[in-house]
Amino acid sequence: MNRPVLIAPSILPADFARLGEECLSLQEAGVDRIHWDIMDGVFVPNLTVGPDVVASIRPLLSIDFEAHLMVVDPDLLIPRYIEAGCSTILVHAEACTHLHRTLSIIADLGATPAVALNPHTPPEAISQVRDLLGMVLVMTVNPGFGGQSYIVEMESKVARIAEMLEGYDCDIEVDGGIGPSTIAAAAKAGANVFVSGSALFNAPEGLTHATADLRQRAEEARS
Ligand code: DX5
Ligand code: ZN
Repeated sequence: MNRPVLIAPSILPADFARLGEECLSLQEAGVDRIHWDIMDGVFVPNLTVGPDVVASIRPLLSIDFEAHLMVVDPDLLIPRYIEAGCSTILVHAEACTHLHRTLSIIADLGATPAVALNPHTPPEAISQVRDLLGMVLVMTVNPGFGGQSYIVEMESKVARIAEMLEGYDCDIEVDGGIGPSTIAAAAKAGANVFVSGSALFNAPEGLTHATADLRQRAEEARS
């Protein structure tokens, strides 16, 4: 199945004093969904926004929201971010004692279940939950901060996961250090959803051009 290329900007580099306007600019620039990086200061050494902030932005936009839960207890927060308007919930395999149950709960609440894998976590972590997944996120940095360097060794992991997901209706997302110089290789390896933070926000030619450029590079690499 030739899955569509989706551009999902991270809100981490946004000006939090103008978060609503920044999200609107992303939507106007043609991105496909907003990637909310949710951090609890324990699973990763950084702290970001709660569900009430996401809920306050929800009515301003029409595009989908996805919540990347970099938190030690995702079961506690899943309902809150779904109520806040996130249609895809990404939990870290490393934070889930009962991943199969957690993914089932996300689906039961009407959202798309997704699992995120840190760089050290092997692809086989998804082998027993593939039928529950709408997306697998392969972290291409160690989570916690934007602006880090892309870990090229993750491309073979993306390719392995693409093999494991043949026949399943499941997207493959990459997150961390994704920009003009890295997106094509990640797409060629098998990713179709791309989180980009600093490369988008810092693009000299602006968000609209940068979004279209990333999309074109990914589509060409996947064709
Ligand atoms: C890191 C986050 C990523 C990151 C992406 O923990 O999950 O979404 O912010 O930002 P860039 O594109 O700047 O690496
Ligand atoms: Zn993220």
